[in-house]
Amino acid sequence: MWFKKKESQDIQSYFTRKWLGEWKVSLKNSTDYKNKGKNWNAPLILKFDPIPDVLNSENAIGFFLNLQYGECYDMRFAKPEDEDISDVILKADKTTWIKLIEEKKDPTMSIMKGKLKLEKGSLVTLSTHRKAAKALLETAPVYSAQHVNQVDSKKTDKAQKRGTLKHKKFITTSKGLNFESFPMQLFQKAKKYGIWNPSDIDFSKDREQWQQLSDEEKKIITHLSALFMAGEEAVTLDILPLIQVIASEGRIEEEMFLTSFLWEEAKHTEFFSRFVNEVMVSRPDFEAFHGPFYKVLFYEKLPIAMNRLTEDASPLSQLKASGTYNMIVEGTLAETGYEAYHKMLKENDLLPGMQKGITLLKQDESRHIAYGLYLINRLLSDNPGLRGPFEDELEELLNDATNIIHEIFEPYDVVPFGLDKEWFLEYAIKQFQNRINKLHLNI
Ligand SMILES: [Fe+2]
Ligand SMILES: [Fe+2]
Repeated sequence: MWFKKKESQDIQSYFTRKWLGEWKVSLKNSTDYKNKGKNWNAPLILKFDPIPDVLNSENAIGFFLNLQYGECYDMRFAKPEDEDISDVILKADKTTWIKLIEEKKDPTMSIMKGKLKLEKGSLVTLSTHRKAAKALLETAPVYSAQHVNQVDSKKTDKAQKRGTLKHKKFITTSKGLNFESFPMQLFQKAKKYGIWNPSDIDFSKDREQWQQLSDEEKKIITHLSALFMAGEEAVTLDILPLIQVIASEGRIEEEMFLTSFLWEEAKHTEFFSRFVNEVMVSRPDFEAFHGPFYKVLFYEKLPIAMNRLTEDASPLSQLKASGTYNMIVEGTLAETGYEAYHKMLKENDLLPGMQKGITLLKQDESRHIAYGLYLINRLLSDNPGLRGPFEDELEELLNDATNIIHEIFEPYDVVPFGLDKEWFLEYAIKQFQNRINKLHLNI
């Protein structure tokens, strides 16, 4: 429950003329919004459904804001006819709006979680202005502070001590391995489907076809492969601290699955290197394709989130690690990257060896992501107070992921194979949203 049942005086004061007047002043004076909204040009309506009494008495459906590049030229009660002149319409009930305002939630993330409805406008466009949208709501006046789910960050950030290094008992000799558990089921699947050998993949046709590709076609395949090569190496290098934590907690079934996880990442690293050696022949400057946003995530945030576990194995630290690794790197970016290979290769009947490897690799990754979701669900159900900080972390990470997708398309005036940036952004957000839905996050 978000609020005390009886509506307080504070809550009754929301969305009145006085409240609107105060918002106008605070938005006008916000340098944060001026900065973050400088590229945003979007007349929009914050719509209410159902319409509360306070708006009914004004014959309004919500609030209309004419936002132009960091400035607000008009802000007033919205009439139904304002819908035609608005680019964006966001809809929620009164309680949700108050919660979004009081808890300073990211509106874009709230749409993805289904709390806020995007009645008009593009989610992809909004996601590129997510900081502006968040900064805008942050300027709205807050009257009450009675929301729950407040997390004592000091408590949650406090490192939990690892389990003792001594074994008090063994699972196999006490209650026995739980073959019904999800990690054990994943382990069975890994033994069945994850046994492919990158060395067995035949690249002979790929080698022939590679010579026939145009320079631009070679460039974009090399570009994507440069991101995957370093990405697979990074996830191989960075998974160890998580395995160490799971082992130290005595979670044998999970650790058994994780042995296949690391092995598979190593095979993925081998696969891309074989492609380079056997198909490309000469080695281009792969690292020239690693842009600043890519480097932030793969050179810094991922290893930091994973290696932090050696010092701090707290549930929050584990959540941040898995959120970065499984939700964003694997579940959002890699999944989107496979789709790019699919569009370039499968649809043009090119590079069958690469196609085969990607298909096998994708199957492995689906188990990795499934484990990540299991781990996150376990941690959140044991520590419900960590939902807020975890969601905040994910918001930031999704932003990193969409920045990387923008960055990938930058060097191309005409993108080879007809790849479309907007389509890929939307696909990535959809992947992320699918994971969020499976986590049953509730804000
Ligand atoms: Fe992988
Ligand atoms: Fe993976």
